[in-house]
Amino acid sequence: TEKTKQFCDAHPGKQFKIGATLQEFVQWIERPRKIVLMVSAGDAVDAVIKELRPILDEGDIIIDGGNSLFKDTDRRIAELQGSGIRYVGMGVSGGEEGARHGPSLMPGGPKNAYAAIEPMVKKISAQVEDGPCVTYLGPGGAGQYVKMVHNGIEYGDMQLICEAYQLMKELLSLRPDEMAKVFGKWNKGDLDSFLIEITADILQQNDPAKPQRFFVDAVLDTAGQKGTGKWTSINALDMGVCAPTITEAVYARCISAIKAERVAAGKKLKGPRHRYTGPKQKLINAIRDALYCSKVCAYAQGFALMAEAQKEYGWKLDFGAIAKIWRGGCIIRARFLQKITDAYTRDKKLPNLLLDPYFKSKINAAQTNWRHVVSIATVTGVPCPAFMSALSYYDSYRAARLPANLLQAQRDYFGAHTYERVDKPRGQFFHVDWPDPTRPQKRV
Ligand code: 6PG
Repeated sequence: TEKTKQFCDAHPGKQFKIGATLQEFVQWIERPRKIVLMVSAGDAVDAVIKELRPILDEGDIIIDGGNSLFKDTDRRIAELQGSGIRYVGMGVSGGEEGARHGPSLMPGGPKNAYAAIEPMVKKISAQVEDGPCVTYLGPGGAGQYVKMVHNGIEYGDMQLICEAYQLMKELLSLRPDEMAKVFGKWNKGDLDSFLIEITADILQQNDPAKPQRFFVDAVLDTAGQKGTGKWTSINALDMGVCAPTITEAVYARCISAIKAERVAAGKKLKGPRHRYTGPKQKLINAIRDALYCSKVCAYAQGFALMAEAQKEYGWKLDFGAIAKIWRGGCIIRARFLQKITDAYTRDKKLPNLLLDPYFKSKINAAQTNWRHVVSIATVTGVPCPAFMSALSYYDSYRAARLPANLLQAQRDYFGAHTYERVDKPRGQFFHVDWPDPTRPQKRV
């Protein structure tokens, strides 16, 4: 309450009111009440709902604006059924700046509850040229699902930028302020985005504690995470959707966290001696292209995930509208999202973003550079898990034939898991009576 009071005193013109207790807070609000919760995801949300439930009236709306797991939102909606209280799970993206100047909002839940909050959320959200960065996403946990995927893409985007930084640092020995200029330039082209912009800012920042060095060099290389990238990856695995670039970004944080072990391993495990000796600008351009292509793959995976989720959970997601509401306010806001909206406007049922004519031609033009960067990273031993996994995703997706024929044969051999044949219709399963695998013998 003291903190709230200080805040209100600092903004006298805003006429804020402090509800010192929930009862006091609830009694001031116009009905049907629209209460936005911004508390940590998990038990705290349930605890606040429990406190609010007896003091709210029929028709009131609780809006959870935290990064709640979409299945928790489904459960909370079910638990509140019968009470007359409506529940909206609303993904909110934009960090501190978004909170004050307009975030991207991803609401889901009962449609009539959304209709009641629509004027408010349209007003508080970020605005782009063609409207507010908010749209109704669907029933149940649809809004928080879309926010979860946003965060999965955010993990991918951030890791890819970090790999570009690592390559320029390790292979070209660029200083942070030199890289800031490179990122600043990239931000004027296809890569124009909030994350590239803040990267340029961060890289030219001096360490406040020791101004003679760059801030980024003072930060320990161990990343934290609150779990939304992991949830996206778990959900991809649960549904059998391939989202390796997002998952690699989660793993990259995991391996960064075992700093002491990595330092010890670095003293024992050898890598290649090879150094990059080619032209500097050529490699910088190639890294830019690798970043762009990999980024398209991370988004393609995120949208493929949402496409499967709508089947799995019975939603109807509008992908063009989702790309639009991510164009402003949120962490992954980027110029390139307009191209995603265009892609889904051209073809609402596009099976994968990679197949859109615009992205197809962009990747065609940039893929030689992408492959060049991945091979240089390999021969020089610079880890680039997200660049590499994105390239493998691209190559796997366009491969008419994968080695899964051998895999099925192995499964049939040791576990009688059966296989389908190239010369029979899909859905017919066969099995070979293999010899005892513990006493292998040559078959004729
Ligand atoms: C956003 C962010 C926001 C938050 C993440 C960070 O869209 O505004 O994604 O939700 O910064 O929770 O997640 P990690 O702590 O897992 O990096």
